[in-house]
Amino acid sequence: MSSKLDVVLGLQWGDEGKGKIVDVLAGRYPAVARFQGGPNAGHSLHFDGKSFVVRSIPSGIFREGSVNIIGSGVVLDPTTFKEECASVSAMGIEPRERIVISKKAHLILPTHRLLDAAYEAAAGKGKIGSTLKGIGPTYTDKVGRHGLRVGDILTPDFKDRFAKLKARHHRLLDDLHFEYDPFQGETEWFESVEFLKRFELVDCEYFVDKLLKEGKPILAEGAQGSMLDVDFGSYPFVTSSSTTVGGVCTGLGLAPSRVGKVFGIFKAYCTRVGSGPFPTELFDETGEKLRQIGHEYGAVTGRPRRCGWLDLVALKYTVMIDGVTDLIMMKSDCLDDFDTIKACTSYKVDGVETDQVPFDIAAQIEPVYSEFPGWKQDLTGVRLESGLPKEFKQYIKFIEDYLGVPVSIISLGPDREATIER
Ligand code: IMO
Ligand code: MG
Repeated sequence: MSSKLDVVLGLQWGDEGKGKIVDVLAGRYPAVARFQGGPNAGHSLHFDGKSFVVRSIPSGIFREGSVNIIGSGVVLDPTTFKEECASVSAMGIEPRERIVISKKAHLILPTHRLLDAAYEAAAGKGKIGSTLKGIGPTYTDKVGRHGLRVGDILTPDFKDRFAKLKARHHRLLDDLHFEYDPFQGETEWFESVEFLKRFELVDCEYFVDKLLKEGKPILAEGAQGSMLDVDFGSYPFVTSSSTTVGGVCTGLGLAPSRVGKVFGIFKAYCTRVGSGPFPTELFDETGEKLRQIGHEYGAVTGRPRRCGWLDLVALKYTVMIDGVTDLIMMKSDCLDDFDTIKACTSYKVDGVETDQVPFDIAAQIEPVYSEFPGWKQDLTGVRLESGLPKEFKQYIKFIEDYLGVPVSIISLGPDREATIER
């Protein structure tokens, strides 16, 4: 019988802890697939006293015998990918034995990165706060039908096509009066393209189909979060890909009927890095306390993350869009030391209360909170449900009732082992 593809998606603004959970779950799946995004992602894994951040490589990489698929919907920067592979090799793992790459994934060129920087520099107050990895310009070229794909590196006229696209980018950069080195990063990029050629380049849709037909379940690993989705996130302060469940099908070439479980990950509070609306953001010492306890600094850019209370209105919206079947609550232990914990249960928009995310999420939204007593004890060593305090159980029960979906995994620390399955 054919297996299903299960999905792990971030339900907030990214950085929910997808890397850890994919790493935990990956032991049960022969294959892990990234379906969108690129090196704007930074998924942190912690095991055996070691830490690792993956960017384009799926988080199943450290599981023996796993196949890690870089899917068609991903945008791949050969230079970053080669660097990442070097760190994987340093851990004693041969990346070529564990990674396959879709020929249809689009390539991030050095000039895509320059364009990202040029657009942000020109945006003034409207800056997205991009990670500047060239994500937006690469997807723009994909949709504009100018892009170069991984499979193109094997064609004889690849260098000419590269030159043509680069010239196009130079014209755009000149229009923006952006100063640049016309050959920046190019040598490393072409060396990395040669490195890419040593990997198995696949027709992702057939590859995925075959695995499932052989009875091998796949875990799809989302990058970013549903509130950063290009269609349903806080537009225009979003990333340029479909981070929601639909992106799994378009990004891997998979029919919706073959999707099984949808694991939705959220942090017990909220963070956001970069600009854009964030209704529950805290500007006081509570926000600072969350940042310190949760070590809320970007894994890719090192930027301090904005912090706030859990936003159940936004979470209910993404649970709906993604059809989440199982919730996973991360970083619950970071709330151990609070007397009172708050969660936003409705918004006041122009004085009118609503439990829906409005079209203009940049509008003046006043969050309405429910309050819960804190548990005031260290949860990091707890490994069994029976060891959880009643105040914590109350908080979780409230969330489950509000969202109508069970919380099936609770994470109480960054390590693989700090996980309770229910
Ligand atoms: P992971 O997978 C958090 C944010 C950026 C910016 C916006 C657009 O680690 O959760 P982009 O570089 O995509 O053009 O930036 O999206 N962003 C993320 N925020 N986690 C991420 O990835 C992110 N990837 C992009 O900060 O606001
Ligand atoms: Mg991250």
